[in-house]
Amino acid sequence: MPDLSVTFTGIKFENPFLLSSAPPTESESNIVRAFEAGWAGVVTKTIGVHPVVNVKGPKTNFMRTDPASGLISMKKKAGAALHSSWNWELISDKPLDWWIGRLARIKKAHPGKVLIASIMAGSGSDEELRHWQTLAKACQEDGADALELNLSCPHMDRPDMGSNIGKDDELISVVTQVVKEVVRVPVWAKLTPSTTDIVVEARGAFLGGADAISSSNTFTSLPVIDPETLEFEMNVEGLVSTGGLGGPAILPLSLAKMAQMTGALPDKEFSGIGGIAEFPHALNYFLLGCGTVQVCTAAMLDHAVGPNVIKSLVRGMEEFLEKNAHRGWKSLEDFRGIRRDRIVSHSKIKRPDEAHYHGGYETEAPAAAGRGAK
Ligand SMILES: Cc1cc2nc3c(=O)[nH]c(=O)nc-3n(C[C@H](O)[C@H](O)[C@H](O)COP(=O)(O)O)c2cc1C
Repeated sequence: MPDLSVTFTGIKFENPFLLSSAPPTESESNIVRAFEAGWAGVVTKTIGVHPVVNVKGPKTNFMRTDPASGLISMKKKAGAALHSSWNWELISDKPLDWWIGRLARIKKAHPGKVLIASIMAGSGSDEELRHWQTLAKACQEDGADALELNLSCPHMDRPDMGSNIGKDDELISVVTQVVKEVVRVPVWAKLTPSTTDIVVEARGAFLGGADAISSSNTFTSLPVIDPETLEFEMNVEGLVSTGGLGGPAILPLSLAKMAQMTGALPDKEFSGIGGIAEFPHALNYFLLGCGTVQVCTAAMLDHAVGPNVIKSLVRGMEEFLEKNAHRGWKSLEDFRGIRRDRIVSHSKIKRPDEAHYHGGYETEAPAAAGRGAK
């Protein structure tokens, strides 16, 4: 049997497949079912200290593409293929007190599995920063093996919370450092993809002492408008706000973000998220340098915690290792990151006639301007 185990931020996982922080990990029963199904680890639904009240009506829906018309819609249609999930769900509506005791019970029942607590607070005052510490210490003491800092929730109005922290590399550093000061378990920073150059924010997290980056959270997006009713397909009394896109549509987008980071920071650790349902999807993240991957949308659509998804991921990785045994590959470490160096600037891609291309310049490109013209 090939060895699927990995060591990531010093923690041993039986395989590199985790459930991400989302509805599949919102309750004790879900998490226990997920472990029994074969997931090596879970990141809990984000735990906070502020009251959470979700919107009236559905919090998540799924968009599908009709192969005949090419139209994307949330309306169910036979033969339509999954395009994405769209959600405007806030963090866990259960308070910290609800989680404490349950984390301990889950960990006691499954000591060999990895339990990561996702936490979130504000950053606008010393008191808010202390909330991060309260959450971090409480989860660690209750048995969490690691913490994931939610610096990426896209639905926050507060300028000092969620993805608004994740858009500010200094705030990312401060929050990470404040948490690192009070815990001994590894700290992962989950970044938002909604920035220009995610390497800036990744550096901020590592500067603050982060042990790894998780990416991506959902991408800022709107549901489509129904051409008959002229209403957004998802709305409350006609109104909508931006929400988060996940699932197949974001795989290439999330990969680009990940490649930027793993290329710039090859010695750091990364957990890949976005559009994973099958092993070939996960393989992209591994080849770019990720040491673990996380799944949400595909699991939501498979009995809420993805029992078939995890079985397929494990089988896919076993088959991949068996097929590549002749290369001497015995574990993920043997092929992790081997396609990172294939991503280069546009001007480095071969032209039919190299002699006439100077990276967008009329003549020989200046040495420093290797990236070419826009
Ligand atoms: C309904 C829903 C709720 C989510 N809630 C959280 C959350 O509380 N904390 C968090 O860090 N990410 C949250 N996410 C983001 C997911 O963990 C994940 O990063 C994203 O969906 C991309 O992965 P996917 O393409 O596998 O869905 C949520 C996603 C969905 C669809």
